Amino acid sequence: MRTKLLRRLLELTVNGETYELAVEPQETLLEVLRNRIGLTGGKEGCGTGECGSCTVLVEGEPVLGCLLLAVECEKKRIETIEGQAHEGVLTPVQQAFLEKGAVQCGFCTPGMVLASTALLKRNPAPSGEEIQEALEGHLCRCTGYNKIMEAVLHAASLPAGKC
Ligand code: FES
Ligand code: FES
Repeated sequence: MRTKLLRRLLELTVNGETYELAVEPQETLLEVLRNRIGLTGGKEGCGTGECGSCTVLVEGEPVLGCLLLAVECEKKRIETIEGQAHEGVLTPVQQAFLEKGAVQCGFCTPGMVLASTALLKRNPAPSGEEIQEALEGHLCRCTGYNKIMEAVLHAASLPAGKC
């Protein structure tokens, strides 16, 4: 006998907007964000928790959207890269990534920016080692990581804005 998985009505708060969606119990947060809400900033690289490209923030903490079920995120505050800039003004982290050439193909960038933003919120003056620790698990095939490190250090030196 086949088991039927029933859709469940779910309320998600993403970048300050509330969405009511009927989702399958096995749908990941990344799938719901990308395929149902249309927020495609988070990328599916490996789909197995190895690359960090699917990172979004839940209650201010970086999580892997490919491993987290959407139903686990009900009534939690979800932030994606699309919710970072306001009225065309980049956050200090986004600005620093641009200025330091830390964006190349851009595939890893949303996850890197969100993880860095969360780091600077809890630790406004991180050491190089602390930045490495916060970004371990985020793979970048383009930059060699040095520019990303420079960007996070630069963001930390900017006047406190909306990190
Ligand atoms: Fe989630 Fe790679 S797609 S960690
Ligand atoms: Fe291309 Fe990081 S900029 S993967």
